[in-house]
Amino acid sequence: MTIFVTGAAGFIGSHLTERLLTAGHSVVALDNLDGQYSPADKRLNIEPFWSNTRFHFVEGDIRDQSLVADLLRRYRCQVVVHLAARTGVRASVYEPAVCLDVNVSGTLSVLEAMRSAQVSRLVMASSSSVYGNSPHLPFREDDAVAQPLSPYAMSKRSAELLAHTYHHLYGFDVACLRFFTVYGPRQRPEMAITRFTRQLLDGEPITLYGSGNTARNYTHVHDTVSGIVQAIQYIKGFNIVNIAGPSSTSLHELVQLLERATGLPARIDWQPEQPGDVYCTQADLRRAADQLHYKPSILLKDGLRDFVAWYQQIHGTVMV
Ligand SMILES: NC(=O)c1ccc[n+]([C@@H]2O[C@H](COP(=O)([O-])OP(=O)(O)OC[C@H]3O[C@@H](n4cnc5c(N)ncnc54)[C@H](O)[C@@H]3O)[C@@H](O)[C@H]2O)c1
Repeated sequence: MTIFVTGAAGFIGSHLTERLLTAGHSVVALDNLDGQYSPADKRLNIEPFWSNTRFHFVEGDIRDQSLVADLLRRYRCQVVVHLAARTGVRASVYEPAVCLDVNVSGTLSVLEAMRSAQVSRLVMASSSSVYGNSPHLPFREDDAVAQPLSPYAMSKRSAELLAHTYHHLYGFDVACLRFFTVYGPRQRPEMAITRFTRQLLDGEPITLYGSGNTARNYTHVHDTVSGIVQAIQYIKGFNIVNIAGPSSTSLHELVQLLERATGLPARIDWQPEQPGDVYCTQADLRRAADQLHYKPSILLKDGLRDFVAWYQQIHGTVMV
């Protein structure tokens, strides 16, 4: 199969590309290597694939609709996995316009390009942030999601609604996957697990926002990628599906697990809660199991141990 992946040089995109190439698929990868974090890191993410003749990389923007349509036609792509986005809840509070432009207008551009190139199968990255501070735990896909707490959450919900419109009007098969905090090798540098690991290994205090009782349903990137691959396989009609790890973990527990994984004690620098942050995320995974046969396989304690080993190898740090 030939699969078009937007945001392929990013954290999740590069892991997905690796899995698809290993499975024998062809990947047409589009990424503008934006400056939200180091473009050099993104080039490194995809460097191992250059020698693969089934990997075709184009540096370009999803908002360039004619480029996207041309690539879909030229390579006869059968499925689009749309991961490119302006990420980060906190960043979106300070730069809402660029967030909406990339995540909403950019998604519209991808949908229009698909329509003109007659490609109608789409797997799309959404986010647990759409649930906001929903009082019902665990979060279910048919919960009300009309009270976003950040421009990022609003943009992700808007993209889901746009995708539904194209399903209704043009019969697209769509899976909107609501990812819950993804971690693993190559995680974005501003995300908590990478930041905490760096601070611990550098002997700096770990900056924690809020009370420490906030919780996240951390998901290892290999599980996230399995959810995407299964969505490619089973996608039919229009579906919104949670893709998450096995359970939720509080910030306190996360720090303890990282202390164990690094063998280093943490000093904490407490800071006030950040605007846009949600209190707790926890996924109901019944729909993912029923529709995609998805079951997360990596426990946080095991994933963190591997993550710390990877981080030390890349950054040349040694455990004490
Ligand atoms: N990582 C998580 O915890 C998480 C959680 C929920 C949802 N998501 C979603 O998953 C997707 C991938 O996230 P990630 O963590 O891998 O982020 P990432 O920033 O590492 O990857 C996104 C990629 O998209 C590219 N990009 C940005 N704007 C673009 C544009 N206009 N045109 C082309 N490429 C563009 C970036 O250069 C980057 O390589 C995103 O849609 C994100 O919103 C991620």
